[in-house]
Amino acid sequence: MKVTVAIDGPAAAGKSTVAKLVAKKLGYVYIDTGAMYRAYTWYCMEKGVDCQDHDACINFVGEVSIVLKEDGAVLCNDIDVTRAIREPRVSGNVSYIASYKEIRLFLVDQQRKMAESNSVIMDGRDIGTYVLPNADVKIFQIASVETRAKRRYDENISKGITCTLEEIEEDVRKRDYIDSHRDFAPLTCAEDAITLDTSNMSIEEVVDAIINIIDKRLKEKYPNA
Ligand code: DC
Repeated sequence: MKVTVAIDGPAAAGKSTVAKLVAKKLGYVYIDTGAMYRAYTWYCMEKGVDCQDHDACINFVGEVSIVLKEDGAVLCNDIDVTRAIREPRVSGNVSYIASYKEIRLFLVDQQRKMAESNSVIMDGRDIGTYVLPNADVKIFQIASVETRAKRRYDENISKGITCTLEEIEEDVRKRDYIDSHRDFAPLTCAEDAITLDTSNMSIEEVVDAIINIIDKRLKEKYPNA
């Protein structure tokens, strides 16, 4: 049986960390859609273009090729950008890029194709509402701003990315605002999604909770499977 799981939620809610672990346990393919918006942002910055310049940024649609490798590596036009796309300069600009409809349509098309042939767990902002509206399971993962900022700060430091907690908290607040106020496919909880507040949960607890939700939903949906 081919299963699709959508995990949406605000910045740094820990979606990718747990989605990766859940995918490994269940044998699904993990698709990090945020990495695709980040790679596109990296490309614009490499080209010296201002990410707030809509017309200049959408010009690269068609010329940017993004590959998400199974081991988690991200390639942009054959360059390994896995680490570069996590840098604060990219995080600080990615919400502008993600607000441009032309770029979203370009990337969403690829995301839908990736979900066609495998069981997938896909995380992002608009997966349950726009990319995969018929997903079998939809989860909206949230946590307080303070918790999210601290988690992202720790993650960056462990990866050797220099930043301050204040800078990360400001970035998280700014991205939440832009991501949920854009016109096209904004960050919002799908009507049929289950909200999971992970503020006081460990990674292992979140992984277990998500696996239980998936199990329950699939049994309800396919009682004879
Ligand atoms: O999940 P992330 O922090 O890596 O995502 C980076 C940015 O990309 C985020 O600020 C919003 C945008 N994004 C989006 O608009 N839609 C998605 N499906 C995934 C990410």
